[in-house]
Amino acid sequence: MEWKVTGEALASLVTDCLLVVHTQGEEALQGCTREVDEALDHRISGLVTEGEITGKHGEVTLIHNWGKIPAKRLLVLGLGKGGELDLDKVKNGMAIAARKARAAGVKQLTVACSPTLNNRWNPADLVQAVVEGFELGVYRYRGYKEEQQEDGSLDTVWLAMPGVTDSAFAAGIERGRVFAAATNTARDLTHEPANKLTPSILAERALEIADRYGIEAEVLDEQKLNELGMDALLAVSRASAEAPRMIVLHYRGAPESKEILGWVGKGVTFDSGGIQVKPGRGMEEMKGDMAGAAAVLGAMQAIGALKPHCNVTAVIPTCENMINGNGYRPGDVISSFSGKTIEIQHTDAEGRLILADGLAYARRLGATSLVNVATLTGAVIVALGYAATGLMTNDEKWAEEVKAAARVAGEKMWELPMFEEYGEYLKSEVADLKNEGGAPAGSIQGGMFLKHFAEETPWVHLDIAGTAESKKESGIHPKGSTGVAVRTLAQLAMRFDGQVK
Ligand code: BES
Ligand code: MN
Ligand code: ZN
Repeated sequence: MEWKVTGEALASLVTDCLLVVHTQGEEALQGCTREVDEALDHRISGLVTEGEITGKHGEVTLIHNWGKIPAKRLLVLGLGKGGELDLDKVKNGMAIAARKARAAGVKQLTVACSPTLNNRWNPADLVQAVVEGFELGVYRYRGYKEEQQEDGSLDTVWLAMPGVTDSAFAAGIERGRVFAAATNTARDLTHEPANKLTPSILAERALEIADRYGIEAEVLDEQKLNELGMDALLAVSRASAEAPRMIVLHYRGAPESKEILGWVGKGVTFDSGGIQVKPGRGMEEMKGDMAGAAAVLGAMQAIGALKPHCNVTAVIPTCENMINGNGYRPGDVISSFSGKTIEIQHTDAEGRLILADGLAYARRLGATSLVNVATLTGAVIVALGYAATGLMTNDEKWAEEVKAAARVAGEKMWELPMFEEYGEYLKSEVADLKNEGGAPAGSIQGGMFLKHFAEETPWVHLDIAGTAESKKESGIHPKGSTGVAVRTLAQLAMRFDGQVK
């Protein structure tokens, strides 16, 4: 999609489709919408009075120009109640409008929307919300069908936003495009079936991203993992015909600083459950058990493009959790890169095992703060449903920074407690800890396990098992992989050291 800016008066603007916004319960139309309404002899306000346009969030009404203006068609997008309006509502609304426009065969469109809609907004942030919403909303996974779906595509979007400076346009367009493209990279990777995205192919994709943005990269193969004693990752991988990898990327945007953000993503390219195999139906969803890895890679792509002033080391342990005679068993005691021993209680609690080595390795590489992202537990869906990512931490101050980044990014996260009582579940009679301890507090057990490997380093665990996939189309998310956590991580890097570039 190409993004352009126009300062032309809306009443004389030549465009295939003009998008204006309307908020609910508004007597008089505002800003750009009012300007267009006047040129249309108050047809829009007429439709509002008749109740045909309500302004309900996500309502999109296609209207005509009645021969009054050069714009061929108009879309009126409802943004909900004025008092509840925020940039997230703008972003989600724009995504819905973008899909509607595409479905109506619109190729070229102009968004007319003014920052005076809400005086608290920084104009660049509004531009970003519009661009991000469009680019996220029209995302489609291409898949492997012989015939691609061809219902046209939006190719050029013009922004008509009075009062926005050129530099605000430039900054907002860049950030919106980069954040969306990075999210869409993660969505693509997560959608890929496990036979098309094995651990070694995931490593190749990571190298491609690193190469494109001049990020330093290293991939540890099985032999190297053996030498280093990455026994937890190796144990999970053992029953698979595909060899595991540990992917490491270094973004060095602040070489003078010792601070290094460590991002660790769960890269299980397929999770059968191991010998404690999962039920058959629905197992295909476990091709997406590398959504955490995809989020980390997407975020690396974003910072590779935006070049914030900070250092990030990404660590992605990746393997399959399969079944054969070599597989690890319940009752086995394995070692790990950290030196801690683990009694296997459940072969389906594999994510925390590979993350144990990932977190310990990120610390070895000098990470001074950690965030790990993982589709870790079905239990997080019981706790929070599909609405929010579960957040756990060993450091409230660090958690506040991650939460603040998530708020800006518009990603809902909710903290679960890490009371020491929960540690009881993981006590083992034969090893330093076990990987699972029965039914209660399933997600917290996952967090408590990982905490042992973050040790003293400020750490946040994001359990995205409920948020990595969207069961239905909704706002910025088409049905399917959401690319969740990409924008939170990227935002975190941007605010870690306020400065960009
Ligand atoms: N990958 C799953 C978690 C998951 C569930 C992701 C649903 C996405 C959707 C994870 O490896 C797993 O199997 N967790 C077990 C943990 C249990 C054995 C302690 C689970 O949730 O049942
Ligand atoms: Mn599992
Ligand atoms: Zn898993």
